[in-house]
Amino acid sequence: MSQEIYAAEPAATRREASEAESSRASRGWWNRNADEYQSDHGAFLGDDRFVWGPEGLDEAEAGLLGSAASLRGLDVLEIGAGAAQCSRWLAAQGARPVALDLSHRQLQHALRIGGSDVPAVRLVEADAGMLPFRDGSFDLACSAYGAVPFVADPVQVFREVHRVLRPGGRWVFSVTHPVRWAFPDEPGPEGLSVAASYFDRTPYVEQDERGDAVYVEHHRTLGDRVRDVVAGGFRLVDLVEPEWPAWNHQEWGGWSPLRGSLIPGTAIFVCERA
Ligand SMILES: C[S@@+](CC[C@H](N)C(=O)[O-])C[C@H]1O[C@@H](n2cnc3c(N)ncnc32)[C@H](O)[C@@H]1O
Repeated sequence: MSQEIYAAEPAATRREASEAESSRASRGWWNRNADEYQSDHGAFLGDDRFVWGPEGLDEAEAGLLGSAASLRGLDVLEIGAGAAQCSRWLAAQGARPVALDLSHRQLQHALRIGGSDVPAVRLVEADAGMLPFRDGSFDLACSAYGAVPFVADPVQVFREVHRVLRPGGRWVFSVTHPVRWAFPDEPGPEGLSVAASYFDRTPYVEQDERGDAVYVEHHRTLGDRVRDVVAGGFRLVDLVEPEWPAWNHQEWGGWSPLRGSLIPGTAIFVCERA
């Protein structure tokens, strides 16, 4: 969940949020919070590593996109790229990545970190629900916690990814593990007791004094996510639930070594374009 401190603290609630309201809230929230996000998590993410989530699973060891050697020369789209750390790793493997994000400020951090390497990674400011690319432009698409948890209509995103991928292309994305929806978003023992229904899909919304959403997260159950993947035109190849490794002592919001040893924190969907 969000960690932003507001002048007047936004009120957290559960209510419906349309695609347009969710997109508006995400753009605003990530523009306002990109500096804090990169300052809090930039060291863990590394400037040019590809980390799938707070557990620290690294694509260099996981190989979910294929072997590092097989990435050479491929056109890769990263969705919700933030400061494009993953894309820089992809470029280092010889791929041709495009890092897309709807937050201008996140992409400015990509420029800051990338420095003279930036030409190796093309940056695009756009919404994942309407990708500004021709059909069949990419061999691979990926996303580490980018966009998918924040959109009201993930099938629309998947259809767009399907459209811009070439036949047989992989689409690999990580999201908050759906099981966590039932637990308070706390790293300590208070985050270990079920407090809400796993089956309640009502979005988590933080709203300002006028009632406008300033942060939105959408919940899908594991079954919903599988059905969404299929509805988007993909075949599910694997569902990876990274375990918390012994070396990782770092908390990230509600993700912690304590909870990580007991419940899954991240779900990574490995899909192939049908
Ligand atoms: C949790 S951050 C992850 C960023 C990066 N992948 C990382 O691991 O640091 C989520 C990112 O998704 C972006 N995002 C949220 N909704 C989006 C949308 N509808 N379209 C494109 N990007 C979106 C945000 O701006 C933010 O940069």
